[in-house]
Amino acid sequence: MGKPSSTSLWLTTQKKKRWPLMILLVLSVSTVGMILVRSAFDSCSVNGNRCGRFVAEKEETSGIKIGSPNPLGFMKSKLVLLVSHELSLSGGPLLLMELAFLLRGVGAEVVWTTNQKPVEADEVVNVLEHKMLDRGVKVISAKSQKALDTALSADLVVLNTAVAGKWLDAVLKDNVRKVLPKILWWIHEMRGHYFKAELVKHLPFVAGAMIDSHATAEYWKNRTHDRLGIKMPKTYVVHLGNSKELMEVAEDSLAKKVLREQVRESLGVQSDDILFGIINSKLSITFILYSIFKMIKNLLNLLFITGVSRGKGQDLFLRAFHESLEIIKETKKLEVSKMHAVVVGSDMSAQTKFETELRRFVQEKKLQKVVHFVNKTMKVAPYLAAIDVLVQNSQARGECFGRITIEAMAFKLPVLGTAAGGTMEIVVNRTTGLLHNAGKEGVSPLARNIVKLATNVEMRTTMGKKGYERVKEMFMEHHMSHRIASVLREVLQHAKVHSRTTK
Ligand SMILES: *[C@@H]1O[C@H](CO)[C@@H](O)[C@H](O)[C@H]1NC(C)=O
Ligand SMILES: *[C@@H]1O[C@H](CO)[C@@H](O)[C@H](O)[C@H]1NC(C)=O
Ligand SMILES: *[C@@H]1O[C@H](CO)[C@@H](O)[C@H](O)[C@H]1NC(C)=O
Repeated sequence: MGKPSSTSLWLTTQKKKRWPLMILLVLSVSTVGMILVRSAFDSCSVNGNRCGRFVAEKEETSGIKIGSPNPLGFMKSKLVLLVSHELSLSGGPLLLMELAFLLRGVGAEVVWTTNQKPVEADEVVNVLEHKMLDRGVKVISAKSQKALDTALSADLVVLNTAVAGKWLDAVLKDNVRKVLPKILWWIHEMRGHYFKAELVKHLPFVAGAMIDSHATAEYWKNRTHDRLGIKMPKTYVVHLGNSKELMEVAEDSLAKKVLREQVRESLGVQSDDILFGIINSKLSITFILYSIFKMIKNLLNLLFITGVSRGKGQDLFLRAFHESLEIIKETKKLEVSKMHAVVVGSDMSAQTKFETELRRFVQEKKLQKVVHFVNKTMKVAPYLAAIDVLVQNSQARGECFGRITIEAMAFKLPVLGTAAGGTMEIVVNRTTGLLHNAGKEGVSPLARNIVKLATNVEMRTTMGKKGYERVKEMFMEHHMSHRIASVLREVLQHAKVHSRTTK
């Protein structure tokens, strides 16, 4: 396997699948960075409901149980206003766009408005707006009579991110109180500077808040209470789910094998070496959106998709990795294959102090042969196929749900994660991975956990398998669709009750 001839033989026998196309691309493009970008663009069928985390749910459920309704079917003909604080290629707006397409898929009337638009013409905004118009989403100006009218007549208003709170007073003015009972506020932020009264003073009065991890929800509850003296509305935690397309690769052992060999070869990692990966994707883009990126390929270098930063703990991971090598050296009895580490999401051209520190550390400790840096990339699946263990070293207490963790588990990888934030809601200590503390005190425990997994194949395999089972049980896209559907149902109910009492 891995030779072009056997691969093409395999390709011809599997014409119906989409993956061979991707693999073909993998084999035909020489640098890994390009491979990932290309495969990301081309592996999605652009039209219709085939793509997207939410939308594919419809297909899946209807395929399994004939006539079983889409969990969001009750949204048909409902008028939904989506208020985005901006329109850009970052996580918040893109998630909201997915929701827009999902709602369109069940026949809801969807209106989109962007609160902060760049003054000058902006290609990203243009492309994204056209994409929405193509799918029947109406796009209106944020500060207009139309926006006000739509808000007043809508069945549901989704306010996306804390910053979008600015829109309420600016546009609704005296009508704010009429609209609040039908607002679902989707919050993605977890940093201190969002806890400002001017942004979130209406938060206690909306129908509900939706947040992607219990840790972040807790954090918001604490902070709004302690800093602003306000109370959160009813808060729904909606964990994200793995896209169907990711699961397809994860469950295709042949595709995984090809990707694994390809990536390992590019890094100079032998097939029986052990590879630890720290992959930070700020945003794992779902397939529905690749068609968008395809249209703006030339803007790729502007995207900040993944990256290294102190909060993600790559520095502490490298220290732990070094320490684990020392432990193994000292304990000569330990039988262990050669260990490598890959840091995905690096960008030397950014020239940040942090990037420089990481490289310097690797040089000082003479780890150049075993520590590999990989540029920012849009698509992480090939790296998940290539590594043996995922390290999730996020340091923030209120860290959101890390989608990379459930993606790794889908690939049957054990996870070494920080006992902090959303990771604790995903990884079961000693069952699907091992947890260590955040901060400097976590370095030695992480080093010992690295040694543990490096020296115990069976533990790796078992944990990987358990992680996969957990994903199938809790973190699939249909789980997410159902969770979102039940939130929307409650918000509609809340709005109805409220409008009755005020009339
Ligand atoms: C919230 O506050 C409680 C009690 O003060 C504390 O135990 C908990 O760790 C805090 N949670 C977060 C995420 O800050
Ligand atoms: C990674 O990025 C650096 C700096 O932007 C660039 O010089 C290098 O060629 C890139 N590597 C790959 C494999 O694309
Ligand atoms: C995880 O398990 C290890 C080993 O049993 C234990 O030492 C550690 O305290 C546990 N961590 C958490 C957060 O439960």
